[in-house]
Amino acid sequence: MYRLELVNGVRAWAVAGYAHARAALADPRLSKSAAGLTRIMGRQLRALGVDPELSGMYSPHMLFSDGAEHGRLRRLVGAGFTRARVEALRPRAQELTARLVDGLPEDEAVDLVDEVAFPLPLNIICELMGVPAADHGLLRGWTADLMDDDHARNIPASHRMREYFSELFVRRRADPGDDLLSALLSPGAAERLTPEELMGTVFLLFVAGHETTTNLIGNAVRWLVADRERWRALGEDPSYIPAALEEVLRFDCPVRMSTHRFTAEPVTYGRVTIPADEVVMVWIHAANRDAARYADAGGFDPERPDLGTHLGFGHGPHYCLGAPLGRMEAFTALAHLTRHYPDARLATPAADLPGQRSAIMNGFTHLPVVLGP
Ligand code: HEM
Repeated sequence: MYRLELVNGVRAWAVAGYAHARAALADPRLSKSAAGLTRIMGRQLRALGVDPELSGMYSPHMLFSDGAEHGRLRRLVGAGFTRARVEALRPRAQELTARLVDGLPEDEAVDLVDEVAFPLPLNIICELMGVPAADHGLLRGWTADLMDDDHARNIPASHRMREYFSELFVRRRADPGDDLLSALLSPGAAERLTPEELMGTVFLLFVAGHETTTNLIGNAVRWLVADRERWRALGEDPSYIPAALEEVLRFDCPVRMSTHRFTAEPVTYGRVTIPADEVVMVWIHAANRDAARYADAGGFDPERPDLGTHLGFGHGPHYCLGAPLGRMEAFTALAHLTRHYPDARLATPAADLPGQRSAIMNGFTHLPVVLGP
């Protein structure tokens, strides 16, 4: 455990070992309340020239709430993300994948982030939520800005997205469809959500629901395509893909660090006591590679016996709501690519692949691959 300063100037405590990280993610003494985070981070952010209230960074939604309030906000949308609901979406994900991939040139480099890893989850979450197809491009630009560590880029993007969703609420109220947004705006649900909670929830689902999966697909392709034999084996028998994805979620997980938490009281892990009112980030990536937890922690091994114990989807009450959806989308993309392109290979040395500039997200901005022999 140690103190660090993020590239955007925010100072926080980092919890990095597996045992402490797992404990911290489920520790009720580490709060995620929006009001508390605005108060505690406010001091730091104002010093950096950012007003946390104006930026709407900590709007109330399940990821920035605790206890009973968290349960209420999570239950309101939980039914939309169960395994059964996700299974029902599988054929649509397969159809979309085929549409995105088929017809791509096979004899020159194609950017699999641009062509598949980004548009597949974006399309699915937009369809789930009821965002018209014509607007996907707009949202794509804003979310890229939102994830950047540079406040000068992410605050205006956040404002534009909020304006966009406010207008969409008006349209969906007048003309409801069979989508999550219309369900949240229906009279029964609307009574249980304040306007701020509604906006926060929609924003959260939208942002959490695609960039993470883009990174899972991109990181999976990067590690799996590098081993020709393994790539071919997955194409011949897709039942090995889930294990490979679990190992990607451990070894190169799409989320580098958890979102902010703060100590509601002094908290001791091992020999270190973090005083009250301090910001804490759980370093998921480091915990997943803790040599005290995993044999050959720095090696990529989809056959390790303890797959699935990783913290790639978090742990505890805030465990990822979209884990079944993310796994299904990544499986669909990998199954299609390995089956149809057994000779695929990286077009750039792996060390030159451009990474995201983000303290939280861990993925590539471009992934040039030659699909054909
Ligand atoms: C929470 C990772 C996909 C929605 C989380 C957390 C992690 C995570 C680590 C916990 C954050 C924390 O405790 O600070 C991932 C990864 C994904 C993925 C690696 C890639 C496959 C999705 C998808 C959705 C989604 C597709 C769909 C909407 C959420 C929500 C939460 C969450 C709503 C907050 C849950 C709560 O506070 O109760 N995710 N996620 N995620 N994720 Fe995901």
